[in-house]
Amino acid sequence: MSIAFVILAAGKGTRMQSDLPKALHQLGGASLLHHTIRSGQDLNPNRTIVVASNQDSEQIKQEANKINTAIEVITQEHQYGTAHAVSVTKAALADFKGNVIILYADTPLITSQSLKAMINSRSKYDIIVLGFEAQEPTGYGRLVMSGTTLDHIVEEKEANDPERAITLCNSGLLACDRKVLFDLINKVNNNNATKEYYLTDIVALAKSSGLSSTAVICNPEETLGINTREELATAESMFQSKKRIEVLKKGVTLIAPETVFFSFDTDIKQDVTIEPNVVFGPGVTIQSGAVIRSFSHLEGANIGSGCVVGPFARIRPDTILEEYAKIGNFVEVKAAQISKDAKINHLSYIGDTAVGEATNIGAGSITCNFDSVMKHRTTIGANAFIGSNTIIVAPVTIGDGAITASGTIVTKDVMPKDLVISRSKITVRHSGAERLRDILKLRAKAKRE
Ligand code: UD1
Ligand code: CA
Repeated sequence: MSIAFVILAAGKGTRMQSDLPKALHQLGGASLLHHTIRSGQDLNPNRTIVVASNQDSEQIKQEANKINTAIEVITQEHQYGTAHAVSVTKAALADFKGNVIILYADTPLITSQSLKAMINSRSKYDIIVLGFEAQEPTGYGRLVMSGTTLDHIVEEKEANDPERAITLCNSGLLACDRKVLFDLINKVNNNNATKEYYLTDIVALAKSSGLSSTAVICNPEETLGINTREELATAESMFQSKKRIEVLKKGVTLIAPETVFFSFDTDIKQDVTIEPNVVFGPGVTIQSGAVIRSFSHLEGANIGSGCVVGPFARIRPDTILEEYAKIGNFVEVKAAQISKDAKINHLSYIGDTAVGEATNIGAGSITCNFDSVMKHRTTIGANAFIGSNTIIVAPVTIGDGAITASGTIVTKDVMPKDLVISRSKITVRHSGAERLRDILKLRAKAKRE
């Protein structure tokens, strides 16, 4: 059976107090929209359509394109309500045969299990609504059940007292056959408190057409809707807790789990140890046996097995550390391939660089990859020794087994096995320190008098 996702993202999101469209706010290193789309991935949807407002559609399109170029974005010119938002996809779905699942871009914690349960219930009922038992139901639509059948949904503003007392609430997610959905939406009117076209009205309309509805119940945590920064922070903390448990279950040691922050796609293999206070931006994979020491920040990197990173290391995008490489304290690595057993242990910046096997980069060494206009690459061979405080001015190649003397500024290629030294000649004046001090003391005295 084919599946089309319709993701509603055209609401104004006023309460976020933000110039950024609500769907593009970040949770665990990805946009809310990205999370919503990912929750449906396991169901292999044939179509994914995002409904965005005029104002936000360009930014939403850019983000959607980054996630998957097959995602379609349709503009809802005016926000006349959830039923109206779905209706703007009618033409795009005209030839589609199968189930449509409606999701909200501001409800990013939905699991694929809940979506699957909704699809499974479609064999028995025409409309499936995802519901949850709310501790605090205020603001949500209430599900009025009669046995296992969903009779109708009443919005908070329209509800009478007994209806308000119902704690079974509408998450907003709904699944229905495409043709049935648009036939019912056609009949929705806006005779209600807010003069909006409510998608929730299709349940009562279905009943009067002899169609059946039911609710699939999910964990209330999944249905958290993001309307404010406070709710965004709550969602972040829920996301992190869940991810920490997932990582621990895989056989990863987290010494202080509550101080480690993951991204949606952080992939950590068994027997990795993560010390306290580590942050993972998007795109990090860590192979087994690696140790990430305290206060390190990693993004867009593949860390090989047995590597040690940190404490206080910064690993930036497009970095590959091959097995047993070591990156020490106050080292920044960007777009670099660090080969097996190579070591960059202290106070270095290595960017746009390839470092060969077992090469040692001494303290304070830096690749000057940017000439104020262009970026350039550095290549350092295997078993090389880069003396402390070497300045490597790219583009440059340093051959296998070469040595750079400490303090050297490398401005041209160094052949394998060569030793390169650039230093001004040093002068030592015997007892010069003592004489200098005497002179300075005399000057100080003259000044005081
Ligand atoms: C909606 C449901 C309510 C449910 C709640 C769950 C309706 C009428 N009510 O209420 O039963 O308990 O969600 O959070 O459906 N949107 C558009 N275009 C519009 C209007 C809304 O794209 O014209 C989008 C919003 O961006 C949002 C979603 O639809 O992602 C829900 O809209 P919102 O106005 O927040 O609905 P609620 O009043 O919360
Ligand atoms: Ca809402």
